[in-house]
Amino acid sequence: MRRVAEQLGLRALHRIDPEAAHGVAIAALRAGLAPSPGPVTSSRLKTIVAGMSLPNPVGLAAGFDKNATAVAPLSNAGFGFIEVGAATPLPQPGNEKPRLFRLTEDRAAINRFGFNNDGMHVICTRLARRGAGVPVGLNLGANKNSQDRAADFARVMEVARDHVDFATVNVSSPNTEKLRDLQGKAALAGLLAGVMAVRGDTPVFLKIAPDLTEAETADVADVANDAGVAAIIATNTTLDRNGLQSHHRSEMGGLSGAPLFEKSTRVLARLSTLTDIPLIGVGGISSAEDAYAKICAGASAVQLYTALVYGGLSLAADIARGLDKLLKHDGFDTVADAVGSRRKKWL
Ligand code: FNR
Repeated sequence: MRRVAEQLGLRALHRIDPEAAHGVAIAALRAGLAPSPGPVTSSRLKTIVAGMSLPNPVGLAAGFDKNATAVAPLSNAGFGFIEVGAATPLPQPGNEKPRLFRLTEDRAAINRFGFNNDGMHVICTRLARRGAGVPVGLNLGANKNSQDRAADFARVMEVARDHVDFATVNVSSPNTEKLRDLQGKAALAGLLAGVMAVRGDTPVFLKIAPDLTEAETADVADVANDAGVAAIIATNTTLDRNGLQSHHRSEMGGLSGAPLFEKSTRVLARLSTLTDIPLIGVGGISSAEDAYAKICAGASAVQLYTALVYGGLSLAADIARGLDKLLKHDGFDTVADAVGSRRKKWL
């Protein structure tokens, strides 16, 4: 019954502007109207990533709950962990609307939000007040008009560190001009040193773009190794527009969803040959098979966002349960045993 209601709700949401629809979805979550099976778990699905115990390895990607207003219901939606934000030091409105587009034919989205958020103090106060639930991380961002973007990441880290289970340095969003330049070797090393100095005991993750060259990817792996990064999230959205059908395909911004799957999985597999740092696979996951493919390509855990727009939040629990079956079918006792087992396919 709930599933039928969810499908009807999705159809209605798809008739309105995507950003407004997202607002309605968050409001529905807060009102308790979303699926709430609790975190799906089993002996096979339980896993430890960067010191965090996860009931299952299927996480919510950053950008869905930018302001951490729906952490409790999201914690109950089936995910094994969630990432909120991005949070910047000061609140900021982001880019002009419209800035989110559904590419329905492509099962994709393009966004150019540009870190609209309530600012680190408001967001961290919400995180500090949250109850028990699955591990929660904060995606760190920099203000558009900041004089020192690298320092912004450390500022948010310092305020967030006692209130989160992990924090992600996000230098891979395409929607803040020149942000991705911080992925260069020297700039990234400096930025990470600043964040590591104030992290306390909180693990720091690094999220990378899928559009890096092989040499750039290798540089990022080197810097992450040297800095003591606890996990790398691969990947953020892409600037690539290959093979799209939808009339929105030329909108500026980052492309997410199904067309990103292959590209992000290749980057993930490549990274897994370059570092022993645990990897989190993101990009185009819409089924248990997709999540399993990322794990076999080298991911210790996965995250998703865009597929929820098309499949609804019940996808979180469906993917976790489906993953359990796939692991069992292939004779794996734990998720960890499957990590990287089919990496070669993607290299
Ligand atoms: C995002 N994503 C994102 N990533 C990030 O690190 N910080 C952010 O603030 C956001 N914001 C954001 C907004 C919207 C509307 C979308 C669709 C995506 C990227 C997201 O976390 C993820 O890396 C990509 O979307 C790829 O995964 P999916 O969507 O293909 O599963």
